[in-house]
Amino acid sequence: MKRVFSGIQPTGNLHIGNYIGAMRQFIELQQEMDCVYCVVDMHSITLPQDPQELKKSTLDVAALYLSVGLDPKKSIIFVQSTVPAHAELSWILTCNSHTGELFRMTQFKDKNKGDESAPAGLLTYPLLMAADILLYDTDIVPVGNDQKQHIELTRDIAQRINHRFPKAFVVPDYRGMKIGARIMALDDPTSKMSKSAQNPLSRITLLDEPTRSKAIMKATTDSEGTVRFDTEEKPGISNLLTIYSVFSGQEIKAIEHQYEGLGYGAFKKDLVDVVIEGVAPIRQRFDEIRHSQELIRILEDGTRRADAIAQKTLKRVKDVFGL
Ligand code: ADP
Ligand code: NA
Repeated sequence: MKRVFSGIQPTGNLHIGNYIGAMRQFIELQQEMDCVYCVVDMHSITLPQDPQELKKSTLDVAALYLSVGLDPKKSIIFVQSTVPAHAELSWILTCNSHTGELFRMTQFKDKNKGDESAPAGLLTYPLLMAADILLYDTDIVPVGNDQKQHIELTRDIAQRINHRFPKAFVVPDYRGMKIGARIMALDDPTSKMSKSAQNPLSRITLLDEPTRSKAIMKATTDSEGTVRFDTEEKPGISNLLTIYSVFSGQEIKAIEHQYEGLGYGAFKKDLVDVVIEGVAPIRQRFDEIRHSQELIRILEDGTRRADAIAQKTLKRVKDVFGL
């Protein structure tokens, strides 16, 4: 059976971009593949975090995994820092990667902006991510489009090491959604929706509702006034159409047709309802699960199962390197 691995950082509020681009795939894949899903808390400390807040957010993301439909009987769900092999393998990969290829990562360039006092973890972060993936002999990595470059780096490093030591690693493939691999910020449809953007109206969060309808009603569009999908000319409306389509289950063509001759106001107003309705069951399950003993039990079980796989891979790799 094919192995799947992916992770989400427990920093900031999860948003519908995370759901549409990544989590939807997690659910789809758990039916037919051997899935491992991780809350990557060690990635979060690439920037300073409030310790209490980080612990809370880690459990939030774990509870969200279950709330969107991950089934612990079908998927391994665990917290990265509870499996030490991630950090160990990451060091081995660090010694087998080039500084140049790390400096070329667009996410690093965006976040670092040439600041020499930035944490070194910002630069080496993709190697921890590569370790996450390679540790589970992963075939498929379901992520959003923004992570594609990091998967390519993971492949490069795995292939480089395999060239020297054949079969050290399984070389993984990127998997993205056909529709919704990159949900754009509502206030600026030229950049992706993200957890860390300053403006809270730039995103629609999965958990805290208050700004949701305001964010949609204020979303940047264009002056044409026609609800039409065209990512080049109409990135704002196209982004909203994608969101509408995902949460309503309707085809984009059908939605365009439905709003023919109507303005953006009517479309946005309905989109608010569609999103609220789509997200409500997630919130409801979250409230049931988040403070349950069951959540802790599932994570402990996940740690045990993940650790068993990770230890096996790490032993194989250390052996290969003479460690
Ligand atoms: P963020 O990028 O929001 O800070 P993460 O880095 O933890 O969050 O990403 C979690 C997952 O969500 C990754 O698979 C990532 O590619 C995906 N993702 C993040 N933002 C978006 C987006 N705007 N559209 C689609 N997928 C996204
Ligand atoms: Na990301």
